[in-house]
Amino acid sequence: MVLGRSEVPDGQGIGASRSRAAGGDTLKVLSVHASVQSVSVLKTMRQLAWRGCYELMAGRLKRPEWAFMNYGFAAGPTERAALRLEPNDEPDRLCIQLYDHVVGASEMTGRDVLEVGSGRGGGASYLSRYRAPRTMTGLDLAQRAVELSRRHRRGPGLRFVQGDAQAMPFPDDAFDLVVNVESSHCYPSMTAFVAEVARVLKPAGSFAFADFRPAAEVPQLLAGLSEGPLVLKSSEDITANVLEALRGDSDRKSELIDMIVPRLFRRPFRRFAGIQTSSTFERFESGELRYICAHLVAFDS
Ligand SMILES: C[S@@+](CC[C@H](N)C(=O)[O-])C[C@H]1O[C@@H](n2cnc3c(N)ncnc32)[C@H](O)[C@@H]1O
Repeated sequence: MVLGRSEVPDGQGIGASRSRAAGGDTLKVLSVHASVQSVSVLKTMRQLAWRGCYELMAGRLKRPEWAFMNYGFAAGPTERAALRLEPNDEPDRLCIQLYDHVVGASEMTGRDVLEVGSGRGGGASYLSRYRAPRTMTGLDLAQRAVELSRRHRRGPGLRFVQGDAQAMPFPDDAFDLVVNVESSHCYPSMTAFVAEVARVLKPAGSFAFADFRPAAEVPQLLAGLSEGPLVLKSSEDITANVLEALRGDSDRKSELIDMIVPRLFRRPFRRFAGIQTSSTFERFESGELRYICAHLVAFDS
């Protein structure tokens, strides 16, 4: 990538002798260029690392009981009572409640719905069985997660596709609703992702989003979500509900980890799962990490 002059920040030294200024400018261009390049190399490496982790987890930890990979949402009594689940789904209630809260009152009956970052398929399966969309598509970068989902998850109109959130393998105007739960922190470019969401949404479509970020990055996240063609209708900090869910689900998740994860990997896994004693849990508790839920529409209706 080559930066033009307008992209080089102003700095001291400009206004000294022409040749010194030119030399200084060149150095600045080179150093900005190098840092932009190293940031994008780092982001690409991070994406490769995430992809490797999720491929490995789906390839090695194949037990179908593990259907969700989110931190969950502890709902208030009214919201909780309103969500009636089949006995088979009850163990996953807190993870399901996160989906239920994120999609909120979005009308799905008879609609075409896409989940980006569908993981082990539990969320897409839940939405297809309880919200009656016409079609429910789960998209994930990890091929093995897609294969695992195809093997174990069932629901009307449900399918799973491998692909990248930043270059989705779908035509324009294909979906009424795009759902994205706890996946975007893995993407190198939120700008590319949001542009893709806008492209695949039908003109009156909507986007239901949830994920965590370091507290200092939340303003940038919200600005990034609405810098493209989508209009931000609402956003909400749900960290307290997520923390409560992590507390409530810690014992079940620990048992699941002991059952399916080899001993050597249990410690990093507890951190990944946000078990109560883990550093991830502490980062949410101290406010260093915030969990954000947002709703956007394809045009301001
Ligand atoms: C923490 S899991 C969440 C899965 C699911 N939404 C859930 O709540 O159970 C994040 C998922 O995002 C997927 N992912 C990461 N980067 C992606 C990308 N660029 N495009 C599509 N999926 C991606 C990962 O493979 C992983 O399955």
